[in-house]
Amino acid sequence: MDKTKIAVLVSGGGTNLQALINSQNSGVISSGEIVLVISNNANAYALERAKKAGIKAETVIKKQLGSQQAFEQKIIDILTENGIELIVLAGFMSILSEDFTKRYPERIINVHPSLIPSFCGKGFYGLKVHEEALKKGVKVTGATVHFVNEIPDGGRIIMQKAVTIRENDTAESLQKRVMEKAEWKILPQSTEKICRQIQKCK
Ligand code: GAR
Repeated sequence: MDKTKIAVLVSGGGTNLQALINSQNSGVISSGEIVLVISNNANAYALERAKKAGIKAETVIKKQLGSQQAFEQKIIDILTENGIELIVLAGFMSILSEDFTKRYPERIINVHPSLIPSFCGKGFYGLKVHEEALKKGVKVTGATVHFVNEIPDGGRIIMQKAVTIRENDTAESLQKRVMEKAEWKILPQSTEKICRQIQKCK
């Protein structure tokens, strides 16, 4: 059976994209294929990673298009042209509108660097999530992969993995450990799980 066609949406370094690419190469992801990467930032290192892996990459810049609606329409056009069946948000730092998310029910997944429902929602992204976790003094944090709906970080949870906070952690050291121990594992595993489910429905 044809593999589920995956698009990965990125904004920055793309270490989660790299984890997905590596998992495809190692066979952890076998039911899907990453056929497209879309970045909303022309300088994202994730674009280099896509290029090195021979994956088609597109850049869509909101400022150039003038509005959120035009930005999302451009992304929809590219996804449609490429026959995309699953959208993976891997460090994509732009909140998608309800108009967008409604088009793809349970076909968009996101990785978030905390145990949702802690430290999530509007304003909680990247390093900020870990700064807030340390400020609060929580002893356990982690990462979550969830479906994307109209509520930021509000869709049904697919997988979570906990990471213990150390006395001497900084936001940077914690971010690195959460990525290594949690995000880079549960994002590929969740991607494979959802690709398999999509294949069953074909
Ligand atoms: C990751 O930690 C990801 O969980 C987070 O941004 C980082 C992107 O790193 N995403 C969010 O905070 C979304 N709310 P990467 O570009 O190296 O994958």
